[in-house]
Amino acid sequence: MTNVRLLILLVALITISECKKLEEVKQTARKFPDGFLFGTATASYQVEGAWNVDGKSESIWDYLTHTNPEAVKDMSNGDIADNSYYQYKRDVEMMRELGLDYYRFSLSWPRILPTSFPDYINPAGIEYYNNLIDEMLKYNIQPMVTLFHWDMPQKLQEMGGWNNPHIVDWYTDFAKVAFEMFGDRVKYWITMNEPYEICHHGYGNVNLAPMLNLTGVAEYLCAKNLLVAHAKAYHLYDKMYRPSQKGKLFITIQSPWFEPENEGETETARDIMQFDLGQFAHPIFSKNGDFPEVMKDKVAAKSKAQGYQRSRLPEFTAEEIEMLRGSSDFFGLNHYSTHLVHRNNGDTVYAQPSNYDDMNVVTYQPSDWVASATDRNKVVPWGFYKLLMWIKEEYDNPPVIITENGYSSLPGLDDIGRVDYYRGYLNAMLDAIEDGVDVRAYTAWSLMDNFEWLQGYTVRFGLYEVDYEDPERKRTPRKSAFVFKEMVRTRSLDNNYEPDTTEMTIDEDK
Ligand code: BGC
Repeated sequence: MTNVRLLILLVALITISECKKLEEVKQTARKFPDGFLFGTATASYQVEGAWNVDGKSESIWDYLTHTNPEAVKDMSNGDIADNSYYQYKRDVEMMRELGLDYYRFSLSWPRILPTSFPDYINPAGIEYYNNLIDEMLKYNIQPMVTLFHWDMPQKLQEMGGWNNPHIVDWYTDFAKVAFEMFGDRVKYWITMNEPYEICHHGYGNVNLAPMLNLTGVAEYLCAKNLLVAHAKAYHLYDKMYRPSQKGKLFITIQSPWFEPENEGETETARDIMQFDLGQFAHPIFSKNGDFPEVMKDKVAAKSKAQGYQRSRLPEFTAEEIEMLRGSSDFFGLNHYSTHLVHRNNGDTVYAQPSNYDDMNVVTYQPSDWVASATDRNKVVPWGFYKLLMWIKEEYDNPPVIITENGYSSLPGLDDIGRVDYYRGYLNAMLDAIEDGVDVRAYTAWSLMDNFEWLQGYTVRFGLYEVDYEDPERKRTPRKSAFVFKEMVRTRSLDNNYEPDTTEMTIDEDK
């Protein structure tokens, strides 16, 4: 070999090894953008307990778990849950251990308004949330407050819940009380948690309370009323409270990523993205507003063929369309998993009428994808990347807050599966940020194990494990809590970090 060739080879080798090093750095420690925020989330019914204490009235989850205990896998309920009504100081201590910038929790409507209406504001309910908020602010942890995370007052449900158009006023009245009571200190408000899940799983199915199973009709009425209620609360805040309170208000939508099984199924995937995420995002974040065209067309055509006088999908008035357009300061996104899709060619029989029958799509997860403890929640980080890119393209790059993302396991402190999940999903999110998606904050679901709806306490989502045998509901950090803490401390993601899990401490100088 001549000297020149040797030199070229040497330079090539050095370049390859430099590239590798760069790649390793990228793989080991990736910085989050300046100003990026970290939090964790919970919801009132899932953690508070104290279900009938200090004047609180019944929610649909109290009612369901007490009247139909078999509906819950381990026949459990949220009567005590994590006992956070009494343990909130420990909860804040955990937030400090993790070094969080903010904590997302929800308000229990029947704890604040036991009659469902503002004729009586329960002082004990107000005091509980004041204590929690003030304890957090003492340590510079910002409250991010969800107004509605599924625990509808039972009394309102008996009057139709989200299917009664008057819910728009009832909900806005409740929101007004919350803004008045807590808005001096709360700067992040979330109107609704996961409208699709509320309407489809609660009204059009039996997967969540109130388990109405009124497929293809009630789920769409719910969608319309819920969206209008959201917009009304947004404008109330915008006009009456924002000038003095200066906060942000937004909606949180849950969406999986739907991946076409093959190139021929691109349109199928588009249909389900529009029926699922688009049903709630399109009216708020798209240029023209309203339900997605494909959804309006398909439900109208099916309804006609089925002999209905009008589409089962209700229409918004022109005024409602305007009120909804742009009514969210952030795109609040909850994301867990990805599904493959193909057109339903008669292989699956759906109830008629129903949302799935209207879109005519089959979803599934291949058996070789990595599983979690929850059915249909397999670990698919690349789906998170694709979803974020889709939101950027579809809605003109709105600022996004990830309001939930997490992994379910069985009990145990050495939760490697959860550590891997967070690393995979956060890397995917960083890829999306590098590719221009405007993600501002990331919220892990969940701070601690909690009542996982119809799964009861059989599956766990917590960075902290909760001991349900202990009357105090002792909380213990899992491995993932240490990994999360280091990520927040360094503002970077290090795939190789191995924590010392012997002791969890608070960094006072944060
Ligand atoms: C909900 C949470 C739930 C989590 C895990 C989300 O759909 O907002 O309440 O616990 O998923 O299933």
